[in-house]
Amino acid sequence: MVTPADDATFFRALRAREYARLDEHHHAYLDYTGSGLYGASQIRWHRDWLAARVLGNPHSENPASLAATDEVERVKERVMAFFGADPAEYDLVFTANATAALKLVGEAFPFGPGSRYVLATDNHNSVGGIREYARRAGAECRCLPLTADLRLDDPEAHMGAAGDDPSLFAYPAQSNFSGVKHPPELVATARERGFRVLLDTAAFAPCTPLHVGETRPDFACISFYKMFGYPTGLGALLARREALAELTRPWYAGGTVDFVSIQNEVHQLRPDGGGFEDGTPDFLGIAALEPGLDLLAEVGMPRLERRVRALSARLLEGLAGLRHGDGSPGLALYGPADTAARGGTISFNLLDREGRPVPYEQVEAAARDAGVSVRGGCFCNPGAAETAFGMPAAETRDCLQRLGRDFTLARFRECLGHRIAVGAVRASVGIATVEDDVDRLLTVLSAVLETARPRAALGD
Ligand SMILES: Cc1ncc(COP(=O)(O)O)c(C=O)c1O
Repeated sequence: MVTPADDATFFRALRAREYARLDEHHHAYLDYTGSGLYGASQIRWHRDWLAARVLGNPHSENPASLAATDEVERVKERVMAFFGADPAEYDLVFTANATAALKLVGEAFPFGPGSRYVLATDNHNSVGGIREYARRAGAECRCLPLTADLRLDDPEAHMGAAGDDPSLFAYPAQSNFSGVKHPPELVATARERGFRVLLDTAAFAPCTPLHVGETRPDFACISFYKMFGYPTGLGALLARREALAELTRPWYAGGTVDFVSIQNEVHQLRPDGGGFEDGTPDFLGIAALEPGLDLLAEVGMPRLERRVRALSARLLEGLAGLRHGDGSPGLALYGPADTAARGGTISFNLLDREGRPVPYEQVEAAARDAGVSVRGGCFCNPGAAETAFGMPAAETRDCLQRLGRDFTLARFRECLGHRIAVGAVRASVGIATVEDDVDRLLTVLSAVLETARPRAALGD
């Protein structure tokens, strides 16, 4: 039986071996949902690998090209195996990031006037933005509401059924705002109701085992730098072959075609994922996925998930203890207060003695001064933010319309009368986090709370 103490010992040794630079810089990094950190062994491996090879643009028959093609194919198989994707059912397309993978689906999905695009209110902008493709085709768009603790509110009831034209259901396996792990069963429910399902795994995959062969989404986007920090500029679309065949690409490009005849104005896309690989893949970067996957395999995703849960519990407990001298709450937490069905992403605002949100920039600056990396803002997830902060729709719309190109956060806050939080602080734990990182953040927060005065006194 593995104890939390065993896990702590394991991860401390891993940090000393792979992430020693954190301690060398006395840096408490708590922004894993922004980006993962690379281990030293990944960088060494890639350097040595590059130094020992001659590699050229893939898909030709010269030796440099063949070497690159072999590597890309090998890593593709490895990535699919890592995510439990059977090549008979799934194909994988390397992209520049998760956003590019989502765009491949959005721009090619055969939306029509009878389609429905149903998505969680809690979604990254890169999923939300698919609404614009759906709308342009005349499809109905529906956002599933959230509860006060930012879980999906009875999603089965609100989802409805697919429309008469191809319909898409999209949601994040884990929220990048609240850390909520949304129910994996929704994939099967939506598919049974006739939707194709797009699962955003960008915030989930870094610290949780992901097996698409079990949940079987039609499309899943992956962000590799979020999983293991290096290389940046690489993501992937995992797609069921059957669903991929239904997509209609809006163009062809280098790398995507079997043939083109300019004089006859014809082209034929490559079958399966090949038809979606716009331009030359990052064949040198793709090789570097291997040591990243090796590192995660060595750690073991169940162990990492367990460790992240333990660290989240420590942070949540510490946050719950932040109070003013008179016992009034010092913090508003956005999302679940316990570790059930949540990952290690935790968003909050400090509250001043009058119960009003302390601008997140103040907390971010204090953390920065103390060598603690947390993120401030809305994290590209306006739906979760609006729900979390309780932004009234009409007032928000009026302010946004009035400000237009003059929009700044300060003016938006002012327009909303300083009553409502605009932005939050997000701390996220990951593979290299140790207890001391969490405690350092809590110390910063206590110190800010001590000095947090009502806004009027700050002249804000
Ligand atoms: C949930 C979620 N989806 C999508 C993305 C976009 O990922 P990428 O930066 O790889 O495009 C992010 C990035 O923050 C995210 O957190």
